[in-house]
Amino acid sequence: SSALAKTTVLTADRLVDVEGGNLVKNAVVIVEDDKIIAAGTAKEVVIPPNAELIALGDHTLMPGLMDMHVHLTSNATDHGYRSLAVSLPRATINGVKNAQLTLMAGFTTVRNVGAPGFADVALRDAINNNDIAGPRMFVSGPALGVTGGHCDNNLLPYEFHDTGEGVADGPWEIRKMVRRNIKYGATVIKFCATGGVLSKGTKVGAQQYSLEEMKALVEEAHLRGLTVATHAHGTSGIKDAIRAGVDSVEHVSLLDDEAIKMALDKGTYFSMDVYVTEYILNEGEKAGILEESLAKERLVGSQQRENFRKAVDAGIKLVFGSDAGVYPHGDNPKQFARMVKFGMTPMQAIQAATINSATLLKQQDSLGSVKPGKLADIVAVKGNPMEDMSLMENVGMVMKKGRIIKSLAM
Ligand code: ARG
Repeated sequence: SSALAKTTVLTADRLVDVEGGNLVKNAVVIVEDDKIIAAGTAKEVVIPPNAELIALGDHTLMPGLMDMHVHLTSNATDHGYRSLAVSLPRATINGVKNAQLTLMAGFTTVRNVGAPGFADVALRDAINNNDIAGPRMFVSGPALGVTGGHCDNNLLPYEFHDTGEGVADGPWEIRKMVRRNIKYGATVIKFCATGGVLSKGTKVGAQQYSLEEMKALVEEAHLRGLTVATHAHGTSGIKDAIRAGVDSVEHVSLLDDEAIKMALDKGTYFSMDVYVTEYILNEGEKAGILEESLAKERLVGSQQRENFRKAVDAGIKLVFGSDAGVYPHGDNPKQFARMVKFGMTPMQAIQAATINSATLLKQQDSLGSVKPGKLADIVAVKGNPMEDMSLMENVGMVMKKGRIIKSLAM
């Protein structure tokens, strides 16, 4: 360690070891510049002299949280026809505000799956350049989908010729769209395999891309070293997406036993947003959500929660994905208590939002756990979330890459 290195020592009553699946008591973590150099119990870790000491007492340290399904450029108040009044510059400004809210809630990494005009790429670059505060971002640009599908824009009549920026039909149009998204900065590919709740005129259960199309999309993305996230509610779309080799399936509402078996065989991750249904059903009408979408949500919400339990019991690899943007950014952690209510242990819910997400992103060497050599993305929660998951809704300290973003005094 060089003489100029900045060393910070964090101490707390507890530290979540997400790789070992246990809670370390009387924890000490040593951070040098942007990296963790030691983590363990007060007995194991030697505290270096001249370090800045942050003694957190009755707090639980854990890796920076990771949300694999957000839309930072969207606001929870702009649903349905209101969305048409949101310009691209306005969406980008929304993103600046929402990136900060997300980071302050403890999420140091997000995967942004669908944004207009590559506003997500601009946001990521501004965050990486330290122009604005926000989480580390993995971004998709516009999501791919079929003409008239969930990832198209179907609100206006024909004469407006309003088409979603990621609409592509047929294997070669799809491959070209993947290549275009990569050209403009995407680091993950998102597509819609089935209809959705919030889109006009789509059936949640109905498959949209064919298996042939999905295979072309996944092959093209994987050739270029990108992972693929697919929106899928209906069973046949979920299965063909898994067959095509997608890395993660999002929502996964209408699951059956065969789909679970296929995902286990292929190692496919599921990202199941088990909180958002509460916001849609309670606040959706005020927020402009169409009546047809509310009706669809009433159908899928409860089934998704039952299937979440089945997926947990079967041992599916699950990540934390919230769909924040549909509901207010910064409220992401509300999903933790629901993940436990619907079948996870508290440790599994935290693993989903840390090491599992890091592994899905292929970033497990630098993110996802508080281990020597990894980037110092660390948060602290007051009390013991293993006993009460709603404590996750109050992250007291946030450190990103060794820098304190939020401290207990704030
Ligand atoms: N963006 C998703 C869609 O429109 C939201 C689905 C939310 N509902 C749920 N139960 N997860 O399809």
